[in-house]
Amino acid sequence: MHKTSFRTHTAGELRKENSGALSTLCGWVHRRRDHGGLIFIDLRDRYGITQLVFDPKIDVSTHALAESLKSEWTILVTGNVRLRALGMANPKLATGEVELEVKNLSILSEAKTPPFSICDEECEVNEDLRLTYRYLDIRRGSILNNLLLRNRLTSAIRRFFEKHSFTEVETPILTKSTPEGARDYIVPSRVHHGFFYALPQSPQIFKQLLMISGLDRYYQIARCFRDEDLRADRQPEFTQVDVEMSFVDKDDVMSLMESLIKEIFSACIGLEITHQFRQMTYKEAIERYGSDKPDLRFGLDFVRIDEIAKKSDFTVFKEAIEQGGSVKAIRIPLGAETISRKDIENFQMFVSNFGLKGLAWMKYSQEGLSSNIVKFFSTELQSELIKALNLAPSDLILFAAQDESTVNQALDHLRRHIASKLCLIKNDQYEFVWVVDFPLYELDKETKQLTSVHHPFTAPLDEDIPLIDKEPLKVRAKAYDLVLNGCELGGGSIRIHNQNLQKKIFERLRLSEEEIEKKFGFFIKALQYGTPPHGGLAFGLDRIAMLLSNSSSIRDVIAFPKTQKASDLMVECPSEVSSEQLRDLQISHRK
Ligand code: AMO
Ligand code: AMP
Repeated sequence: MHKTSFRTHTAGELRKENSGALSTLCGWVHRRRDHGGLIFIDLRDRYGITQLVFDPKIDVSTHALAESLKSEWTILVTGNVRLRALGMANPKLATGEVELEVKNLSILSEAKTPPFSICDEECEVNEDLRLTYRYLDIRRGSILNNLLLRNRLTSAIRRFFEKHSFTEVETPILTKSTPEGARDYIVPSRVHHGFFYALPQSPQIFKQLLMISGLDRYYQIARCFRDEDLRADRQPEFTQVDVEMSFVDKDDVMSLMESLIKEIFSACIGLEITHQFRQMTYKEAIERYGSDKPDLRFGLDFVRIDEIAKKSDFTVFKEAIEQGGSVKAIRIPLGAETISRKDIENFQMFVSNFGLKGLAWMKYSQEGLSSNIVKFFSTELQSELIKALNLAPSDLILFAAQDESTVNQALDHLRRHIASKLCLIKNDQYEFVWVVDFPLYELDKETKQLTSVHHPFTAPLDEDIPLIDKEPLKVRAKAYDLVLNGCELGGGSIRIHNQNLQKKIFERLRLSEEEIEKKFGFFIKALQYGTPPHGGLAFGLDRIAMLLSNSSSIRDVIAFPKTQKASDLMVECPSEVSSEQLRDLQISHRK
């Protein structure tokens, strides 16, 4: 199948049926063993490994040349395929029943000693070193497997969209700032001095324009750029599966995208998902999980006990409520047995990282509740607590009392921390949830100004439009995120197709006429030429690949990723440019 003018077979192809045949293989010297005058080489290519035998009785000069072979040299060998001696078959290798008795050897290229072992995958290698020599890192196999999986993923995606009459359209990379809320990467223009392009944070505006063009169903596997602080699931340059559809409502988009995800899981890892994904409002997600991307693989959800706390004599709780905060509890089934006092002290340290001043606790047994704070709760209140938390013997309860956002943030981290400590998460568990009814606006933490939670083209729920002027923070959006195991896979919305409403939304964001004109004038203009109702969504392709391959970092599913500090260690960028280039752009040197 992979026959070329160099080779007859790949290193993963030969089987016992081929024994006796003359075969030519190419590849890399993976491992070498010398045994009683014989030299055994494991020859590796991307398809597998084949054992080569160099025997002086077959050819003295070939055997002599094989003496010089070192790790990672690229070679070409010809010889007869033969069955391995009795008991010598290697069941771990697909080619393990045969070996190649080499008659001719050519060295195609020699190799320097690699900076880390290629054949020993178990050996931990510092990631910076792996990224500096990424081409060798890919040879080691695990990243290669992720790239192969990613290829199956994009193939499945393309098949799906073709089947559903979507048109793939490429949108510009050199463009104008797009409103996704991160910082832009900007590119200076040589022709227009003092002017800049921005790299797209997403194709958002273009895909909406394509709906105005009447394209009806668009998709693109699109590269996006965002200059933001990086985490394990974020890269400055990443790929979206970007989708837009006309004449649709929320349910149309969500149900089609749900089918796409199911096809992907079936095609890539053979997982058949037959149930409908659950949906949860943003409000419920925050209330019970303190996060808009709840991990639903385990329980440990929060119960608000404000009413009970208010009536207790425990100052910490009472004060939190009096100051407008809240008290929430997490019930840990059997926690009284699995979690020690020392663990609780560690949890207290852990939550202090998120600004929570303490963590109160109680244990429940046949005798009732016990802890240092139980005395502040009357017998009646204790019964109320037991009921509200649905307690069973040996449960442990942890309480957080403070302003709501600190409580939510700290308990969100704590619940995931405890789940991992108690090994409550199974590897092959996939819990999808659509989070819906996001707020349209939020207050920017720094400027205290209204900003869009998604982007300013997101439509509000019809019944909430009257609230835009008076209570903007209460306005809910026709927006939806798909969350898998606590990771936001994608998000989208139904867009505004009415120019007056779009203007009103911009105005509420305190964008002046002038700013609107400057930033989105072309888009407002386009909306005036007959805009179909439309909506869409974008998935993070890298994140899907990361979850499918069970990788812990997004870097492991990208061929040439950037580090946490946004640099590429292999090509060494960002890097300086020449004075001539700067002069052309009329940019002065850093002083
Ligand atoms: P959003 O900003 O939610 O929506 O992005 C969509 C998805 O892209 C992925 N993603 C990232 N992946 C890796 N690194 C990053 N830095 C990064 N940022 C985002 C996430 C996310 O869910 N235009 C809208 C979509 C729409 O409304 O149709 C948008 O870009 O998985
Ligand atoms: P203190 O009165 O500060 O000794 O606290 C008594 C108990 O209340 C300890 O178990 C603290 O961990 C706990 N505690 C203190 N602050 C908080 C808080 N913000 N939320 C929950 N428990 C708290």
